[in-house]
Amino acid sequence: MAPMYAFEAEGLVKRFGETTALNGISLSAPPGTVLAVLGPNGAGKTTAVRVLATLLRPDAGRAAVAGVDVVRHPARVRRLIGLTGQYASVDEDLTGAENLVLIGRLLDLRSREARSRAARLLADFGLAEAADRRAGTYSGGMRRRLDLAASLVGRPDVIFLDEPTTGLDPAKREDVWAIVRRLVADGVTVLLTTQYLEEADALADAISVVDHGRVIAHGTAAELKRVAGGQTVLVRPADPDRLAEAAAIAAAVAGRPAESPGRDVTTVPVDDAAAFTEIVRRLDAAGLAVTELSLRLPSLDEVFFTLTGHRTGRSGGRESAA
Ligand SMILES: Nc1ncnc2c1ncn2[C@@H]1O[C@H](COP(=O)(O)OP(=O)(O)O)[C@@H](O)[C@H]1O
Ligand SMILES: [Mg+2]
Repeated sequence: MAPMYAFEAEGLVKRFGETTALNGISLSAPPGTVLAVLGPNGAGKTTAVRVLATLLRPDAGRAAVAGVDVVRHPARVRRLIGLTGQYASVDEDLTGAENLVLIGRLLDLRSREARSRAARLLADFGLAEAADRRAGTYSGGMRRRLDLAASLVGRPDVIFLDEPTTGLDPAKREDVWAIVRRLVADGVTVLLTTQYLEEADALADAISVVDHGRVIAHGTAAELKRVAGGQTVLVRPADPDRLAEAAAIAAAVAGRPAESPGRDVTTVPVDDAAAFTEIVRRLDAAGLAVTELSLRLPSLDEVFFTLTGHRTGRSGGRESAA
């Protein structure tokens, strides 16, 4: 019988000394879907991925990939998965091509097969021209794509992407999103960890919001956004001296106080897009020029604040950047 879930973790607990990294977390996804694990730094995302990927034994709970238990049969699980993310697998002294061929050889591909697989992936990921350059010379975005390619050498059924876009600029982020979509179209199941609600929204069939090693909410992006109360209007006046004026206009339309997340921007939650139109109209009537004006989804911080009553404290994590 085919397993119902491509991967499944139930009640995972993992402690590191005094720190409880996982406190009963449960995650699962049906085959061919994307689960986004959304949470701030230190929430336990990487630890959960490492357990699922057989790199770490849980203290309690169980996890399986395609029905295969990760603790009892790690070697079998490793043949089913691809892994990329915050523990770089790429050797900087080797070229892009050499890295992929090496991984192919480690996965028991014959030499010719490993080379053709590597060439194919390098082409798919826009790295053909850089194939013979040392990975150490790659830009951040190229490096990330090489990581992704590396995780696909073994044609995995399930792929774990740990914060694949953290630190990438928006254009590069879109490139990674396109790759994820292609993987899913090929039938791969994806677990993606992220700190960005927009990313989960763009890619995921379901989202598990995690905090302190547990799932605090699970649902589709639309469901989570409803929890956080709709959308946010952001206004950045061209003249920073008119910020208070812009905030007053936004607040008057929205019927609630505006916030100032940055020195020269103001944001306010709105219930519908009509409020956005009205804010635009009044800014225009006041002759208030703007350099940025947007209607956006709630941020992770806002979803989080609504769910937990506390901020994500994104900068408070001890983990170093990917
Ligand atoms: N090897 C480790 N030793 C000690 N503490 C760790 C280790 N790995 C993770 N932690 C701690 O466990 C918690 C969860 O970490 P992590 O899973 O990396 O979170 P995330 O990936 O969501 O940022 C953090 O408090 C982190 O400092
Ligand atoms: Mg992490």
